[in-house]
Amino acid sequence: MTLNDLNRVIQAERTSPVSSYTEWDPLEEVIVGIVDGASFPTWHMSLPPVLPLNQHETFRQQAGRPFPPHLVEAARMELDEFVRILEGEGVTVRRPEPIPHNQTYSTLNWTSTGLYAAMPRDALLVVGNEIIECPMAWRSRYYESLAYRPLLKEYFRAGARWSAGPKPELTDQQFDLDWADPGEDGPTRLVVTEFEPTFDAADFTRLGRDIIAQRSNVTNDFGIEWLQRHLGDQFNIHVLEFNDPHPMHIDATLVPLAPGKLLIHPERVTEVPELFKRWDVLRAPAPVIPDSHPLYMTSKWLNMNILMLDEERVIVERQDEPMIKALRNFGFTPIPCNFRHFNSFGGSFHCATLDVRRRGSLQSYL
Ligand code: ALA
Repeated sequence: MTLNDLNRVIQAERTSPVSSYTEWDPLEEVIVGIVDGASFPTWHMSLPPVLPLNQHETFRQQAGRPFPPHLVEAARMELDEFVRILEGEGVTVRRPEPIPHNQTYSTLNWTSTGLYAAMPRDALLVVGNEIIECPMAWRSRYYESLAYRPLLKEYFRAGARWSAGPKPELTDQQFDLDWADPGEDGPTRLVVTEFEPTFDAADFTRLGRDIIAQRSNVTNDFGIEWLQRHLGDQFNIHVLEFNDPHPMHIDATLVPLAPGKLLIHPERVTEVPELFKRWDVLRAPAPVIPDSHPLYMTSKWLNMNILMLDEERVIVERQDEPMIKALRNFGFTPIPCNFRHFNSFGGSFHCATLDVRRRGSLQSYL
């Protein structure tokens, strides 16, 4: 790096409205998703590897239709409560623009309808002062980042770096057409091939210079390699494997909470990875969401999908008493917020947010 380059980096760090290296540095600005217009996506073979079995038929039948309005409304109210809590804790909250999700769109090869702009954590990755639009593997999420474009343009104009992964084609070659469910005990079999790079940001978790990643049903090796080369030598992506036959998004499996403190899924992480051998480890308590509560797209382990406001304060689902207690005993200050209806849409506080700016600098923690 020349001196000029170095000066440019230092200048950008000082002025960029986007700056976040970890999951725990003090949060200053965050994007919180919206549920407006949330729709069941067009049915596609990329869905069954990750949807709960009892939802497949609903998704097939409801494809292209809105999610139940009463659930959308309940989730919207919980998002409002979440925003009030964040603002009360001194965090600036930004929201995406509603875009039509049930409108049919086409590429040269296929047509689809969309999903929602509820989970900024999936579509956008912040590393340092750069915000990256992810090349997502679901056809129904092809245009999702458009909901964030007004914000991306604003951040860019104010000094952030803005980039995007190579726009994927998402033709049939990107999917294993022979994919069959390995079941709960079988070996993991991923539905994405290595035809082209795809990844969701939620398959990565950031610890300064080190970033932990998992291969999943939306994130392939090609995508991880693209990101590693794009980020360059300052960052080191470690790919870990977990005991999860249906992986999609690492943030209900392995969650770094603060330097030296790790939350893990007790069944998916059977052995603490070597990288974290010196860390204190909290095994997540079993989730308490009742079976009667609809979860369209995930397991109940969304109880792990919490948001750190700094190294102490953490947003936790209000009814999740075991997690509130476990985090308090682990040295944190839990801040409860109702979010169970939002959970129905496939995420919790970490998924629903993108930390745009956290006060802190690039460091090593491993
Ligand atoms: N895919 C993760 C789960 O279902 C979030 O637990």
